[in-house]
Amino acid sequence: MEKRVAIIGAGLSGLLACKYALAKGFHPTIFEAQDCVGGLWNHTIESAKLQNAKLDFYFSDFPWPSSVQEMFPHNSQVLNYIQSYAQHFGLLPYIKFKSKVIDLDFVGVSNEELQIWDLWGGNGQPFGSKGKWNVKVEHIEDNSIKEYVVEFVILCIGRFSGLSCIPEFPQDHGPEVFGGKVLHSMEYSDMDNAKAADLIKGKKIAIIGSNKSAVDLADECARVNGAENPCTMVQRTVHWMLPSVYIWGVRFDFLYFNRLAELLVHKPSEGLLQSALAFTLSPLRWGIAKFVESYIRWKLPLKKYKMIPAQGFLQDMSSCQILTLSPNFYDKVEEGSIVLKKSKSIGFCREGLIIDGEAQPLKADVVILTTGYRGDQKLKNMFTSPTFQNYMLGPSSSTMSLYRQIVHPRIPQLAVIGYSESVNNLYTIEMKCRWLANFLDQTFQLPSIKEMEKDVLEWDKYMKRYAGKYYRRSCIGALHIWYNDQLCKDIGCNPRRKKGFFSELIEPYGPADYIELTQS
Ligand SMILES: Cc1cc2nc3c(=O)[nH]c(=O)nc-3n(C[C@H](O)[C@H](O)[C@H](O)COP(=O)(O)OP(=O)(O)OC[C@H]3O[C@@H](n4cnc5c(N)ncnc54)[C@H](O)[C@@H]3O)c2cc1C
Ligand SMILES: NC(=O)c1ccc[n+]([C@@H]2O[C@H](COP(=O)([O-])OP(=O)(O)OC[C@H]3O[C@@H](n4cnc5c(N)ncnc54)[C@H](OP(=O)(O)O)[C@@H]3O)[C@@H](O)[C@H]2O)c1
Repeated sequence: MEKRVAIIGAGLSGLLACKYALAKGFHPTIFEAQDCVGGLWNHTIESAKLQNAKLDFYFSDFPWPSSVQEMFPHNSQVLNYIQSYAQHFGLLPYIKFKSKVIDLDFVGVSNEELQIWDLWGGNGQPFGSKGKWNVKVEHIEDNSIKEYVVEFVILCIGRFSGLSCIPEFPQDHGPEVFGGKVLHSMEYSDMDNAKAADLIKGKKIAIIGSNKSAVDLADECARVNGAENPCTMVQRTVHWMLPSVYIWGVRFDFLYFNRLAELLVHKPSEGLLQSALAFTLSPLRWGIAKFVESYIRWKLPLKKYKMIPAQGFLQDMSSCQILTLSPNFYDKVEEGSIVLKKSKSIGFCREGLIIDGEAQPLKADVVILTTGYRGDQKLKNMFTSPTFQNYMLGPSSSTMSLYRQIVHPRIPQLAVIGYSESVNNLYTIEMKCRWLANFLDQTFQLPSIKEMEKDVLEWDKYMKRYAGKYYRRSCIGALHIWYNDQLCKDIGCNPRRKKGFFSELIEPYGPADYIELTQS
């Protein structure tokens, strides 16, 4: 039986998927649309830095080079680090660059047959059904289109790149009525640094959005234009921003990334004892969130600028919307180079933006939308079959249906890496790739489709409970260890990675805890 594997995308997800597949004896082909590895790290804004401390964000078996001294490396250092990883583990020969996958078609099994399967792919295994994937690839170099046939596809096309989310604006108040320029942060990031600086230099810039892209861009505009041409950040929802990795002297990891923290929240498919504990300890959960919030409110002038979020810290944590603030962000607000505004609805007029409660429009020359991405739509668009398209996207009233955040119970011989979010994506992606490589190697088989769908529903409930309206972000950030536990159990390794009861309870978990799985 042939076991050909195609990986689509050579960003962090694709490279890790390749490295772990190779370790199990597979020889995957990676199709990458660009001419380089590293995905979105080739297209960040000039000043962007890693959001995580480098102590937490690393490949478990490939340390940062000693030349990188910064706690939060610059985007060029992150890109170098990823490129070195690809080189070190010999991944480059497996990549077909400038090769864009334009279509995925599952052939050999009829739709009727697919509907009656109780087990994924008919047998709960990665291989063995009659079905194969036709991968249609556009080779950009010679402008040709070729088809490749493989038994397994790993989609690593990126959640936050390629397809921007453009919001709907009130009728007659869309970008078309605006006299200036409107672009999405993705287009801005795609520009070369000199052109990007030129676009904002000396202009009145308005940014729509309140997450990391918005904050980074406001920082960049303030650096280029200073207080003479302030940049305005218009926020629909204010989110909690972390000014430091220490909260009242306690490292943040000890508050949210250990087992104790996870005991305090209800978990998918939890037992009676876990449920009782989470219920009984809910005052502690509340107390920890208030402890963090009180520090942020003390450290940053949130009250002065009316920037106290309406939602609690745990909700932002559970929807992966905690962002690291650059150390002098609020200095720039104080000096007037960044202006913060809140507005529930936002519309355009000829001169700029219409802001809630303000009689005069906010004048702008350039409006940058930092309104996120459509990673779900991008996945859907990969498939020929309308049935698979609908399966992948699912209804907007639920999270994306991915068992273990990796495989769709009803789409056989295919995995997705890099869709569900966490607060340390490299760590999460590496764990997923370990699980996937073990699955490809048939270390374990998947439960029935019904059982997988039940599990997906449990996660859906968890996400709706804690992430509120942001459940579609599929964030596992506040339940990372529990999530890893499930993967470990499938693979057949001990989920408890620490030595001793107290270490297990108190010490934060990170990539180093799973290094032995890499070595084995
Ligand atoms: C600006 C920015 C900064 C970030 N910083 C952090 C951070 O500090 N910490 C953190 O944890 N997370 C961060 N993230 C989240 C980020 O998504 C992950 O860290 C990670 O880099 C994602 O890697 P990926 O491989 O899944 O996706 P991508 O990097 O988007 O790579 C996807 C790759 O697939 C290719 N591709 C797409 N479609 C096709 C196709 N049809 N055919 C062939 N190739 C295709 C693309 O060309 C690309 O190379 C950041 C996100 C953004 C936008
Ligand atoms: N340096 C870095 O490390 C870095 C830099 C950039 C991005 N990132 C990461 O990349 C990912 C994407 O970040 P992102 O900031 O680009 O996107 P995002 O996290 O999806 O945030 C989108 C923002 O747009 C707002 N928005 C959406 N629709 C809107 C509308 N109709 N009107 C007004 N506001 C609207 C959202 O507000 P609501 O909350 O109200 O919906 C939110 O503030 C995140 O994981 C982020 O951490 C990291």
